[in-house]
Amino acid sequence: MNQPIRVLFVCLGNICRSPMAESYFAWLVGQRGLSDRFSISSAATHSDALGNPPHRGTREKLSREGISLIPHRARLLTREDGERYDYILGMDEENARHMRRILGECSARVALLLDFTERPRAIADPWFTGNFDETFSDIREGCSAFLAYLEREGRL
Ligand code: 4NP
Repeated sequence: MNQPIRVLFVCLGNICRSPMAESYFAWLVGQRGLSDRFSISSAATHSDALGNPPHRGTREKLSREGISLIPHRARLLTREDGERYDYILGMDEENARHMRRILGECSARVALLLDFTERPRAIADPWFTGNFDETFSDIREGCSAFLAYLEREGRL
């Protein structure tokens, strides 16, 4: 049996976007019967919300979409994560800067989630926009594109 593909989603606070991506991607691979092929988690670049569960906006949006929330408490990205994960996927350029600073040289592939789509761009922070519908739509697009990329690469 192959080793699971280890995926870590990262955002600023680890209570809005990255736990939404963690739960959505877990749901998506579950739908495809691929749950045992993945190890999935999420982390923050900043300490502001450490220890907190996912934001109410994230929980409510996932619930409306019929997607189970993966229980999570915000934790900081560490340098060791760069060796523990295969893919470390941020949400915006600010995340990317902090990820590079924290991770330094590492074996993981570090990218933004929407880099795998036909229209690479940032996923706006709903902590500031309040728009969890837009966040979800972007995360759904990014996760589908990332899974398609893994399939194209023969990783699955
Ligand atoms: P996230 O949003 O990066 O999508 O989790 C934020 C959540 C909390 C804070 C900032 C952004 N905060 O400053 O506590």
